[in-house]
Amino acid sequence: MPLVKMSPLLQKARQEGYAVGSFSVANMEMVLGVLKAVEETKSPAIIQIAEVRLNHSPLELIGPLMVAAAKASSVPVAVHFDHGKTTEKIKQALEIGFTSVMLDGSHLPFEENARITAETKQLASEYDADCEGEIGCVGGSEDGSEDIAINCTSPVQALEFYEKTGVDALAVAIGNAHGNYKQAPKLRFDILEETAGLVKAPLVLHGGTGILPDDFKKCIKLGINKINIATATFDSVEQSVREAYAAQAIKGYYDLQTAEVEGAYRNAMKHIEIFGCANKA
Ligand code: 13P
Repeated sequence: MPLVKMSPLLQKARQEGYAVGSFSVANMEMVLGVLKAVEETKSPAIIQIAEVRLNHSPLELIGPLMVAAAKASSVPVAVHFDHGKTTEKIKQALEIGFTSVMLDGSHLPFEENARITAETKQLASEYDADCEGEIGCVGGSEDGSEDIAINCTSPVQALEFYEKTGVDALAVAIGNAHGNYKQAPKLRFDILEETAGLVKAPLVLHGGTGILPDDFKKCIKLGINKINIATATFDSVEQSVREAYAAQAIKGYYDLQTAEVEGAYRNAMKHIEIFGCANKA
């Protein structure tokens, strides 16, 4: 299966009522773990990295690795640049071969968010890539470095934003936030339902870590087709390594690497089951 764009994956998910996992990765072991899970379960998938992560995982190194892994996969995999902050990095991702990008203008005034998202959509289309936008503001920040307040999406504004930008996927804010929640969030399903009724683009749920399985399922029923998972992967990798050390299973570097792959694999398997995307490749 080749590297694919996310739009056909999300359109199929929309027609058949499931969500595609969009898994953040930071190194080769995480890529290998996620791909092992999606190949084993015959699931479509998206692998992504956010701009704030690039200090630890430089785009010129991790980007080609992600693209190469998607190309070698036996299932359709899209490669996404998440929460872009600068046109420079978005362009670099597109040059490397990412098949979708997001410019996160959600913290900006509506008109400005719409303007820069429409420009990003235009840039992405020059590379035959897709574009995701966000309206309303998901809480926290992708790497936990900022405490951005949640600002729930207005369905009417979401429609106007979609019409102005033509984005291929639209992230909504319905009480979700990045990072670990102190307690499971109370999601605004009413806002999601109304937005899904108005906007024809597949909807995206950010801040997937810590959302309860039943809430995920309800979101999918109401129109979410892409779910972003980051912190849960990192936590699962760390936990897997700790467990392996505790069990004295790490005798050398390769065992450490195996434990990392296992952590990413376990986390992806758990979410694939909840999202209903197994055997949808
Ligand atoms: P979590 O870290 O809460 O899973 O959020 C991931 C995300 O939304 C990436 O865009």
